[in-house]
Amino acid sequence: MKTNDMQVSGLEGVVAAHTALSGVDGEAGELTIAGFPLEELAPNASFEEVIFLLWNGRLPDAAELATLRASLGVQRALPEITLHLLRELAPLRLPTMDALRIAAGTLGIDAGEDGPMGEALAIAARFPTIVAAYWRLINGEEPVAPRHDLGHAADYLRMLSGTEPDASRVRALETYLNTVVDHGLNASTFTARIITSTDSDLVSTVVGAVGALKGPLHGGAPGPALDMVFEIGSADRAESYLREKLARGERLMGFGHRVYKVRDPRADVLAEAAERLFRDGGDMALYELAKHVERTALELLEEAKPGRRLQTNVEFYTALLLHGLGLPADLFTPTFAVGRVVGWIAHAFEQRRTGRLIRPQSVYTGRNDMRWISTASR
Ligand code: COA
Repeated sequence: MKTNDMQVSGLEGVVAAHTALSGVDGEAGELTIAGFPLEELAPNASFEEVIFLLWNGRLPDAAELATLRASLGVQRALPEITLHLLRELAPLRLPTMDALRIAAGTLGIDAGEDGPMGEALAIAARFPTIVAAYWRLINGEEPVAPRHDLGHAADYLRMLSGTEPDASRVRALETYLNTVVDHGLNASTFTARIITSTDSDLVSTVVGAVGALKGPLHGGAPGPALDMVFEIGSADRAESYLREKLARGERLMGFGHRVYKVRDPRADVLAEAAERLFRDGGDMALYELAKHVERTALELLEEAKPGRRLQTNVEFYTALLLHGLGLPADLFTPTFAVGRVVGWIAHAFEQRRTGRLIRPQSVYTGRNDMRWISTASR
């Protein structure tokens, strides 16, 4: 494919929506979420505050926040049919993202009763419950029922491990969820807007978006970055390991980005959150090793690919932070979905308010001189 054709097929540089939800400036390395620089919002807000912000365009007052927290808590319990389905799926040992896609489709059965906001609340509330219940079932454990008095992030960690997390772990997860909640017109968000633009329902929107997110080119890549740090194992091996990898023409996982040509701002926010988490009782040696691997990788990438401006991306510190929270790599993408579903829903609301049917055109490149031949004569 010629460069121009590649850009057309990837819609590179094409503006396909106007949004007040998030803005990505790849040259300045800035991400704005509903008016707030990421660095300002992510480490300070609870996830509930970010949900309210994206769905209403402003921060909640104390009473609104309490109401939202309580509504999410009540809605976290799964409908009987969804739980039954997860129990049936568990022996098949499908990846958690597949189970999430299948189970999310059942959320429309009772989620539409309280209008669009009720439906949105039920979907966002139940994503963590689906992931946690399925994860426990495939590991031979009974699902842990949600507790409606806990916050969204705290209850997700509790439903996974069975133990109530301490405040520093909750803070770390909330910072992660806030960081990945929305990111311009990425593939899953575009999918969500396309489905909504046909006047389809919210459950169909999030099911389609989960399907887009699960692909390794979108949300499925953070595991390998962590594997690389583990394979390196100690700081003195970093340079030789990375040099050999580059010499073989392999890519360093967790570096480079299509849009960001300077450091991905999400990497900084997550690096700080990881440092706080590890300092508060985690494996500080692993954190120091990751920092060393990052520094060495950046030096070697500049040497091997001068002028390419390859910088640390979000995946590198996502992996470290989620690992520090005790999540296995198989849960990295499903946890991404727990955060991003809130952004998909916000885009669905915005698309309904401001958008039209999304219906681009294609250029026909086939023949037009064919004549019909009966089956017997072919
Ligand atoms: N390690 C080594 N070289 C890299 C690299 C990496 N992580 N990322 C890009 N490059 C090199 C390519 O080999 C290419 O070099 P060349 O022109 O000499 O052949 C050049 O940089 C441009 O790469 P290209 O694939 O055209 O850039 P892109 O914008 O399409 O790539 C990514 C973006 C994210 C796909 C790419 O940087 C990558 O594969 N990163 C590693 C995987 C990863 O971390 N993914 C998560 C992204 S959030």
